[in-house]
Amino acid sequence: MTSERRSAAWFSATGRAGMIYRSWMRNQGFGAEVFDGRPVIGIATSASELAPCNAHLHRVAEAVKRGVWQAGGFPLEFPTMATGETLMRPTAMLYRNLMAMEVEELIRANPLDGVVLLSGCDKTTPAMLMAAASVDVPAVMVTGGPMLNGKYKDMDVGSGTHVWKFEEELKAGRMTQEECFFAEGCMARSNGHCMTMGTASTMACMAEALGMQLPGSATWPAVDARRFETAQAAGQRVVSLVEEELRPSKILTRQAFENAIRVNAAIGGSTNAIIHLLAIAGRVGVELGLHDFDALARDVPTLLDLMPSGRFLMEDFCYAGGLPVVMRQLVEADLLHAGPITVTGKSVADNVTDAECWNAEVITPVAEPFQPAGTGTAVLTGNLCPGGAVLKQSAASPELLTHKGKALVFDSAEEYHAVCDDPELPVDASTVLVIRGAGPKGYPGMPEVSNVPLPAKMLKAGVTDMVRICDGRMSGTGYGTVVLHVTPESAVGGPLAFVRTGDEITLDVPNRSLTLHVDDEELNRRREAWAPPGSPYTSGYTWLYTHHVLQADEGADFDFLQGSRGHAVPRDSH
Ligand code: FES
Repeated sequence: MTSERRSAAWFSATGRAGMIYRSWMRNQGFGAEVFDGRPVIGIATSASELAPCNAHLHRVAEAVKRGVWQAGGFPLEFPTMATGETLMRPTAMLYRNLMAMEVEELIRANPLDGVVLLSGCDKTTPAMLMAAASVDVPAVMVTGGPMLNGKYKDMDVGSGTHVWKFEEELKAGRMTQEECFFAEGCMARSNGHCMTMGTASTMACMAEALGMQLPGSATWPAVDARRFETAQAAGQRVVSLVEEELRPSKILTRQAFENAIRVNAAIGGSTNAIIHLLAIAGRVGVELGLHDFDALARDVPTLLDLMPSGRFLMEDFCYAGGLPVVMRQLVEADLLHAGPITVTGKSVADNVTDAECWNAEVITPVAEPFQPAGTGTAVLTGNLCPGGAVLKQSAASPELLTHKGKALVFDSAEEYHAVCDDPELPVDASTVLVIRGAGPKGYPGMPEVSNVPLPAKMLKAGVTDMVRICDGRMSGTGYGTVVLHVTPESAVGGPLAFVRTGDEITLDVPNRSLTLHVDDEELNRRREAWAPPGSPYTSGYTWLYTHHVLQADEGADFDFLQGSRGHAVPRDSH
């Protein structure tokens, strides 16, 4: 067994090369005994002060290390890039694939037998899962945990969700700028990622639902002592995973993805999970399409009453029992595959069989759910989105789910922002705001700009929602009747590129359709007169990105990164 470990190619080597590998490591104070053939465990840490959601991961890494030592492994922490959602421009999503590529190559290039992946902010979790899937060494995910509930005046406020709400209050004149400044410090009051059911919390739950994270660990707040206990347990467990050769390829099966899709529906998770799960599936060769998300989610009720769709936050979800309660309920209702193996070495059902619900207001029962089945994220098709589009019903206004209106078209989010407060803007409550140029290639990076704020004039008139259509994404913390991920995007000549102000559009969510009322002949005329927008990127990473990124319905991964490249030990360097 020992000789089959990857690390043996380095640390068990004799002669000059072996001496180089061991000797330089010993400058950190490691004794000779760590090279005795024990599993070498990498701890991939995306800690960074530029990614505040991940800033505490060094502490989490210390707990993982403790566990690895306890179980007889040799832990080695290494930094990875961190894609922080709040600061990175033009969008952290532009760098998800770069991070995935970096983590994959770091694991393969080094003497690692197993890895623990530390993530937090939105893109860092999928990037690490994509990497682990492609290199396929035994891996356990440990997400960094959500922030404590935000507390502003007498209410709980959710990161992200209340940024939009406060902006609306400010624009409508119901809140002052001073109150907004004060609220900033109340919203983010501890280490951790967003504590709404935004993309970070969703992806933490997806890692757990896929079987790549220990049961219950998605929800412990970042500053809760049990977050560190969980991390320590992950460190212990990964050593056994190496012994058992339980690799991501054995865990990330089609059934595991089907479970994740259903869990996403039950938690009212982010639409971004669709793109990330498609990308991860692409790395392990699991056939997954947009239609799977609609078909599998249709009979799953939303159980969690969490922001942005509901009232509570991740801390409440944790104290109510966390994701194992949701998964147990779904297993009992025959809505999950019970059998897939997980990083615990046990099945999904075995992991959650004892999970108890401590607060049925937060985690509602399947029989009396927060929202009934069929109200989750819908996948739309039609002549405006031949490759599909998505809409999060639970974050939308029910009365707008069937809507016909005239388009007001903008070629970019910036173009809209420049005029949205203009009292003369030609809009009424029925207008459909069309924002294009926000797709993977066009922006580039497919940013979260789709839920543009409503025009100030409509907010002042008391309008709280309008239909918006965009080829970009929406933050998992966002809300509104927003058609997202329109595919193909406008920059590659999708029909969205040919919509003109005044065209009529029908959104029919119950029938899963999005229709542009322009006949084919006219659409073809517009297509022939259309020229793709030029790209200013002639070199560098963004050039690579624009030339190789796939469309949203394929996970927006790079075409050349799909599939697994395995964990074979590379050639010697000495
Ligand atoms: Fe990092 Fe929300 S900004 S998780």
